[in-house]
Amino acid sequence: MIIAVDGPAASGKGTIARALAQHYGLPHLDTGLLYRAVAATVLREELDPAREADAVSACSFEDYLLDDPWLRSDEVGRAASVVSAHPLVRAALLNRQKKFARQPGGAVLDGRDIGTVIAPDADVKLFVKATPMIRAQRRHLELRKHGVLTSLDKVLADIRARDERDSKRTEAPMAQASDAALLDTSFLSIDAAVQRAIAIVESKT
Ligand code: C5P
Repeated sequence: MIIAVDGPAASGKGTIARALAQHYGLPHLDTGLLYRAVAATVLREELDPAREADAVSACSFEDYLLDDPWLRSDEVGRAASVVSAHPLVRAALLNRQKKFARQPGGAVLDGRDIGTVIAPDADVKLFVKATPMIRAQRRHLELRKHGVLTSLDKVLADIRARDERDSKRTEAPMAQASDAALLDTSFLSIDAAVQRAIAIVESKT
């Protein structure tokens, strides 16, 4: 069984994907981490995320980099959204994701283009969303918990800019697949959202 989970930043897609993987005993790939690893390599080597050639040269990173906590920072997230718009970067990361999706027994993948590009034949597709303000509030709270002091307005502006870049790019833009079930987590607790996601999977399989 292949489960594709797509949606914008802080929609809850990562938490839902991890919970589904655990519930069904499937391996899970957070594909955003791959773009974050490319971005982190570009930043560390003082290259330019907006230059396609620079970003492509950072695509053969070592696997251990995926465990680096810095990858989860907003700085790297912003640069990830820039490098991910380059067609050659997406092409370089394509096979790895497709291979993960096709492993025997199935898998759960989350990202922006899983249901549309990486696994268009997935058994279940979920598109997870929440209002920009609610996503900004979640992100703001999480940042404060980690001691990062920033204003809600700045986090909201960042979320809107990332949504705009991710959904307007020409190559594999963030989009709800026509056969994806929509899950709005705006007014759901994590538990309720996960239960809703499991109910959707059950109804499709
Ligand atoms: O999901 P996350 O915030 O970790 O993703 C970081 C960035 O990577 C996103 O803003 C998006 O630009 C890019 N991304 C993508 N396609 C995916 C996953 C992430 O373009 N499948």
